[in-house]
Amino acid sequence: MSLSSYGCSDVLLTNVKIVNPSTDGSLRVGEGETILVIDGLISEIRQKGSRRVQRDRDVTVIDVEGRCVTPGLIDCHTHLIYAGNRASEFADRVGGKSYQQILENGGGILSTVNDTRRASTERLFELANARLRRMTRYGLTTVEVKSGYGLDLETEVKMLKVARLLDGTGARVISTFLGAHILPREFHDRKVRYINYLAKEVLPKLIDMNLVDMVDGFCDGAAFSAKELLPYFEAAKSMNLPIRVHLDQLGDTDSFAMFSDLAPISVDHLEYLNDRSIESMARGSTVAVVVPTASYFLRQQQKPPIEKLRYYGIPIALATDHNPGTSPVESLLLAMNMGCVLFNLTPGEALSGVTINAARALGISDRGSIACGMLGDLAIWDVADPVELSYYMGHSPLWARVVGGAVFRYDRTTC
Ligand code: NIG
Ligand code: FE
Repeated sequence: MSLSSYGCSDVLLTNVKIVNPSTDGSLRVGEGETILVIDGLISEIRQKGSRRVQRDRDVTVIDVEGRCVTPGLIDCHTHLIYAGNRASEFADRVGGKSYQQILENGGGILSTVNDTRRASTERLFELANARLRRMTRYGLTTVEVKSGYGLDLETEVKMLKVARLLDGTGARVISTFLGAHILPREFHDRKVRYINYLAKEVLPKLIDMNLVDMVDGFCDGAAFSAKELLPYFEAAKSMNLPIRVHLDQLGDTDSFAMFSDLAPISVDHLEYLNDRSIESMARGSTVAVVVPTASYFLRQQQKPPIEKLRYYGIPIALATDHNPGTSPVESLLLAMNMGCVLFNLTPGEALSGVTINAARALGISDRGSIACGMLGDLAIWDVADPVELSYYMGHSPLWARVVGGAVFRYDRTTC
């Protein structure tokens, strides 16, 4: 995550309507303010009417004419790097087959593994870069990217190298190792051996190559049990890597308590999260990440227990989960809309979910809100009210993005 790759410049935004989300979904809004970004960081926020501080350096001044400015959006859960697509599987599912049936018959994730193993680094970069370019048109400035379509050392390295190459090309990229995504064919019936291979052979090499920022695993009847995942997560923890879990997406595994000693920074999906797991979560600081677009795409009737998460004050983040099987979506704004319509999030909670709480789900505190000392990552919107960000479906009111002080302008007709 290098700042210099953005060619940082110093910029002063004037006449700003600052929209600053809090972890509980409330928004603090201030009109007519100025935001100064120096050397890539927010260095001054001046209230309307307050005295201008004299400066000895030139800055680019941009009058944003009262537009809403939010923190740059953070997509804290994606599987952005893969080859091929799963359109034919989509047609099968629309025709009545379930995601699990397709997976059990060797399709699903494993078909993307086949395509990704065959693709070159250059091809994977080209595909992921095009997706990332499109995602930035919806205000994204940071994205988390998972591996997990390689499931062997060579392809996991290839995917994570592509993630590092993407970092700094207009957005910041955080890389997650998802070796424990599904059991690869060559380890048929030998889950313990595969987990051992990941923990003892793959993960140490990836760390040596500085390719991993955090570690994720898929805890589900169709993938791995909590017991099977524990040695993998313990290995990650012993190497000081934060842990995240795909949890209770397709069924209730009743397993959060088994992970709680490892203090996962997030658990994600959560459609079937039970009361016991929520109570166990409430005793720690794990963030709940919900992914309404995947729920929609799989036509899931079961919804995450939003009301109970709220009751216990558990921070809720929201992500696209972009992937070819359950969520081929590139717009965080559409994810926000679906979070409101399908999961009953408030528009404020949806915005917190893609800013301050998304940063928490990634274990980072240098972005996700607008304050002095934070990264100069902002999204400027052609909207009068931040509720509009969750309201539109399919169009982006983005006016400009600022990434570490570098300004990217968007022509409304091209977004
Ligand atoms: O987050 N649930 C597991 N992993 C992905 C789906 C990956 C795929 O189907 O390719 C998810 O939904
Ligand atoms: Fe996922």
